[in-house]
Amino acid sequence: MSEENYVLELEHIRKEYPGVVALKDVTLQLRRGEVLGLIGENGAGKSTLIKCCTGAVIPTSGKIRVNGREFDRMSPQLASENGIAVIYQEFNNVGELSAAENLFLGRPIRKGMIIDRAAMEREAQKAFEQLHIKINPKELVKNLSVGYQQMIEIAKAIQQNAQVLIMDEPSAPLTSAEVESMFKVVELLRTKGVSIIYISHRLEEIFRLSDRIEVIRDGEYVTTLITPQATVDELIKLMVGREMTQKYPPRKNCINKDKVVLELDNVCGNGDKNMSLKLHAGEVLGLGGLVGAGRTELAEVIFGSKPIESGRMLLNGKEICPKSSREAIDLGIALVPEDRKRHGALLGNSIKNNINMPIYERISRFSVINSKTELEIAEKYRKDIQIKCPTLNQLVKNLSGGNQQKVILAKWLAADCQLIIFDEPTRGIDVGAKYEIYKLINDLVESGRSVLMISSEMEELMGMSDRIIVLAENRMTGELAKEEFNSDKIMAYASGITDETKE
Ligand SMILES: Nc1ncnc2c1ncn2[C@@H]1O[C@H](COP(=O)(O)OP(=O)(O)OP(=O)(O)O)[C@@H](O)[C@H]1O
Ligand SMILES: [Mg+2]
Repeated sequence: MSEENYVLELEHIRKEYPGVVALKDVTLQLRRGEVLGLIGENGAGKSTLIKCCTGAVIPTSGKIRVNGREFDRMSPQLASENGIAVIYQEFNNVGELSAAENLFLGRPIRKGMIIDRAAMEREAQKAFEQLHIKINPKELVKNLSVGYQQMIEIAKAIQQNAQVLIMDEPSAPLTSAEVESMFKVVELLRTKGVSIIYISHRLEEIFRLSDRIEVIRDGEYVTTLITPQATVDELIKLMVGREMTQKYPPRKNCINKDKVVLELDNVCGNGDKNMSLKLHAGEVLGLGGLVGAGRTELAEVIFGSKPIESGRMLLNGKEICPKSSREAIDLGIALVPEDRKRHGALLGNSIKNNINMPIYERISRFSVINSKTELEIAEKYRKDIQIKCPTLNQLVKNLSGGNQQKVILAKWLAADCQLIIFDEPTRGIDVGAKYEIYKLINDLVESGRSVLMISSEMEELMGMSDRIIVLAENRMTGELAKEEFNSDKIMAYASGITDETKE
C-alpha cells in the first residue's frame, strides 16, 4: 500500500527514561477514516506512544510522519497544526467557565477588542449539534457530567479540524449510558473521515469499534490484526504473552455462615435509605447496580467517611459508628476507592512508601521504621499483582495509569483488614493483572476475611461474588444467591424493579 493512505505513521519509536525503556521499538500506521484499537498490558507503553504523537513526550529516536510529512519530534503546536488531537483521561476543562467558553479556550472569538460571547455560543451550539449532543453552551462545565465534559473535549478537537483523534481509555470514567453516546460520536466521526486511535482495556469495546487492532507488549510492537478476523483469546495471548484459559481463579468454599462480620440494620446515610445486609466471614458479597445507584455512598458510610443518620451497624456483633476513615481502619475496615487518582496515591512518593502508608505504625518500633519489613511487604505485592516498575523507589507519578492503581490496591491489601470494600477493583487494569487481583481477593476470603465488592461489570460481579445485592436509587432492590445469578435479573433489579413491584 502506498504511503499516502496513512494519515499518521510512527516508525521505530524508542523512548528511554532513567532506568526504564518505556518504548523499545514501536511502529504504528493509521489509515484515513479507520478506527485503530491499541491494546497492551498496563505499562506496555500505550500512553507514552500517543504522547509522542502530540509532543507531550519527545521520543529518544524514531520517526513520525503525518500525511507523508516527516518529523523527528512533535510539539503541541505542530501536532495541532497537523490535525492531531488527543482526549486524555484527565480533561483540560475549566469548571468555572461555560461549555462554549471551554470550546474556545485559548482562542476566543472576538469582535474588535471584545470577546464575542454570543458568537461563541452560536458556534458551540452548531458544533454540539453536529455531533448530535445536547449541551447548553451557556452551562458551566462543572455542572456537567463527566460524559458531557468529554464530549466538549471531542467537540473542541473537531472544531480545530482534527484529522486524527486519539482517545486514551475514554470509557474508563463514563457510565454505561455515556459510553453508548461516546460510541455514537466515534462512529459518526469515522463516517466523516476522521481517523481514530482508541485505547482500552475492555476488549468488547475494541471489537465493537475498531477496524484493525495493534498489540504492543513491553514497549515493543507485536502485531496488527484485522478486527473481524481476531478473537478475544488470541488478543489476550498476544498481549499477555501466554494463554489464559480461565477468567476467574477457582475458590474454595470458605464461607462461615456462623460468623457475621458486618451487619447493617436499616442504615440510612449519605443519601442511602434502609440498608440491611449481613456479610459473613470468608464471603465475597457483590454490590450491583447502575452508576449512581448509591453503592459508593454505602461504602463511604461503612468506611466512616460519611455519617450514619439512622439504623445500626455491627462489626462482629458489636455496634460501631466510625466517624472517620482512620477509625474504620483501626476497626479493621478498608476501602479501596473507585476514584483512585483523587483518593488513593501520593503521586510524589515512592511505590514502597505508598504501599506501607497505612501500616507504618505496625512496622515501626520507637518511631523507627523496620526498613527490611517495609521492603519485603512492597516486594510481595509487586510480585503478586505484577506492578511494573524498575525499582520500588520509583515515584508513583512515573508509573503507567494501571500500575498506579495496582499500588493503591496493594496499599489496602497490606493494611491487612478483616473487611475490605473494593469499589470497581479492576477498572483500567489489564486482563492478566485482573486475574491476579481476583486471586488476591480469593486469598483474602480463604483466610477468613470478608469482601464487599462494587462492580459495574456484570461478568466480574457474577464471576467473583458468592451473593449479590442490587441497589437502585439509593435503595436495595434485590438479592441473589449464587445459583440464581442471571444478568437479566440483575439488570431488572438495577433498573428499580423489585420482586414486589412485579407481583
Ligand atoms: N515520566 C516517566 N518516568 C519514568 N518512567 C515512565 C515515565 N512515564 C512512563 N514511564 C514508564 O513507561 C512505561 C510505559 O508507560 P505507559 O504509561 O505508556 O503505559 P500504558 O501502556 O499506557 O499502561 P496503562 O494501561 O497502565 O495505562 C511504564 O513502565 C512507566 O512506568
Ligand atoms: Mg496508559
